[in-house]
Amino acid sequence: MRMVDIIEKKRNGEALTTEEIRFFVNGYTDGSIPDYQVSSLMMAIYFQDMNDRERADLTMAMVESGDQIDLSGIEGIKVDKHSTGGVGDTTTLSLAAMVAAVGVPVAKMSGRGLGHTGGTIDKLESIEGFHVEISNEQFIKQVNDIKTAVIGQSGNLTPADKKLYALRDVTGTVASIPLIASSIMSKKIAAGADAIVLDVKTGDGAFMKSLEDAQNLAHAMVQIGNSVGRKTMAIISDMSQPLGFAIGNALEVKEAIDTLKGEGPQDLMELCYTLGSQMVVLGGKASTLEEARKLLEEVVANGAALEVFKKFVVAQGGDASVVDNPDLLPQAKYTCEVPAKSSGYVEKIEADDVGVAAMLLGAGRATKESTIDLAVGLVLHKKVGDQVQEGESLVTIHANSEDVTEVMNKLYEHIVISKEKVEAPLLIKAVIK
Ligand code: URA
Ligand code: CA
Repeated sequence: MRMVDIIEKKRNGEALTTEEIRFFVNGYTDGSIPDYQVSSLMMAIYFQDMNDRERADLTMAMVESGDQIDLSGIEGIKVDKHSTGGVGDTTTLSLAAMVAAVGVPVAKMSGRGLGHTGGTIDKLESIEGFHVEISNEQFIKQVNDIKTAVIGQSGNLTPADKKLYALRDVTGTVASIPLIASSIMSKKIAAGADAIVLDVKTGDGAFMKSLEDAQNLAHAMVQIGNSVGRKTMAIISDMSQPLGFAIGNALEVKEAIDTLKGEGPQDLMELCYTLGSQMVVLGGKASTLEEARKLLEEVVANGAALEVFKKFVVAQGGDASVVDNPDLLPQAKYTCEVPAKSSGYVEKIEADDVGVAAMLLGAGRATKESTIDLAVGLVLHKKVGDQVQEGESLVTIHANSEDVTEVMNKLYEHIVISKEKVEAPLLIKAVIK
């Protein structure tokens, strides 16, 4: 087989065979096919697309390029959740404990990642002593015992995706539905889940800005998952404004604890119940979404979800007293209010730029090498559609440096107040099966 024939075939709009797809994925991973040929093929795929069968083949070729996690030692149907990423997305922390409390095992592999705030692991590490460096045996045992555990990314998972993603990043070929969908799904499938619930974000703070693009990506991922034997569904949720109130690592842990107590921000609670209901049904613990939601509301109301979270923190070395006393989490030295300059209704809280404001404080990583400050961040007091009086605080800035002028200016620039009444955006925009 010759790579140049594969490139020409795709360039001409033909479908590649399973063998041809395996050939280029394996050849690129082992270094026998050079960057320039693969980047040419990526561009051909960008313009010519792939059919459903090719997308599934590409995904599985990437899955098989490295290790696959064996979760067969865990009893029950393992359901994983994946978000395409947004600002202040604290969902995983609360959702895992809620779903686990209903009896669905949540075996999570998580990363640190780049972004406005840290990843799930960074957030959890703001709890004194908490760590994710646990053995595979401990991971499996903990999920069987308390139904949830988080482990750091280990082993050689989807090396083909790592190389391809890095190449796409510098060759103008990231924004391709078949390439994004196969990239995300290969990582989820290699991580071993039986069923996958996807939270595809749309809006200013999302990777997919338009609803149409988000829907196309969601359909593509659902099709891939189902065709390779993993039950997969997606919801499309709003990311035009940050999720919940908190943006920042320790601040989001506190928000997650509030949510587990049933006292979280309305949008975050609703998203947890929506995603959680789908997970509970896929996990076989309820036959309808209504029944699943009732079970989740019950474990929040009776404290069982919070209890699972405490056990989970203790099992991974953390100090669970933060659950009853969140003031024990890292605290920033300074807080500063951002008073509204006029009265009216909040029209926009532009997620992307507000996220950048949190990053300027040190809550996120600009590069892989940056260190993050777990204590800093933002707490919103208003969401889109809320009424506001002049002088009322829109946001509290939690900072470890005294001068927050730049952050304050950024917030004023990207939180827009209108004289006219504004509708709150719809949180759940679509469900895709
Ligand atoms: N996220 C991924 O993991 N892969 C892509 O291709 C794009 C976003
Ligand atoms: Ca949040």
